[in-house]
Amino acid sequence: MSDALRVRPATLDDIPRLAAIEDLSNGRDAAADILASELTRSWARLFAGEMDREVVAFLDGWLVADEFEVHFVASHPSLRRQGFGAAVLDASLTAAAAEGARTSVLEVRRGNVAAQGLYRSRGFEVVAERVAYYRDGEDALVLRCDLARYLGGPRTAV
Ligand SMILES: CC(C)(COP(=O)(O)OP(=O)(O)OC[C@H]1O[C@@H](n2cnc3c(N)ncnc32)[C@H](O)[C@@H]1OP(=O)(O)O)[C@@H](O)C(=O)NCCC(=O)NCCS
Repeated sequence: MSDALRVRPATLDDIPRLAAIEDLSNGRDAAADILASELTRSWARLFAGEMDREVVAFLDGWLVADEFEVHFVASHPSLRRQGFGAAVLDASLTAAAAEGARTSVLEVRRGNVAAQGLYRSRGFEVVAERVAYYRDGEDALVLRCDLARYLGGPRTAV
């Protein structure tokens, strides 16, 4: 029987696995050293979702003043639509709110239907569009989530 997913702060030992998930996801120029450098930044928050001792999803974000910027979230391609992306995002938003974040913001490619579905299911709404924002010319959508409204009452942090 599988354990439930556990979301926890990522450590240096997790970096190869996170980089592998990122490489397989092709959503960002993955580099283990970039992910590792996040662990040295006091404002960065790197969360790993682990099940049966294997990391299956992760989130990389920055907590800047009262805003939590989500930079990247991914679940392993062979394990999608099983709630792992949502669980990691929920836990990260809850942890950020516990640290004082009032809103969460992010950019997503206009054509990234899966990510937009995930973010909208977690209370994010489009607040701006950035035309030809990415190097390949694709537009970015800027999404924002009011954490107090989405999370409702008090939650337990990661
Ligand atoms: C986006 C991503 C993280 C979603 O992870 P996931 O583990 O498959 O998502 P979940 O199973 O938790 O899905 C939660 C909700 O998100 C939405 N969603 C997820 N995948 C979707 C898809 N392909 N199409 C539409 N909605 C989708 C649904 O509302 C879903 O709830 P449901 O399954 O009950 O309908 C995953 O597709 C991924 O890693 N993509 C590549 C990396 C990436 O593009 N990251 C975002 C960069 S900004």
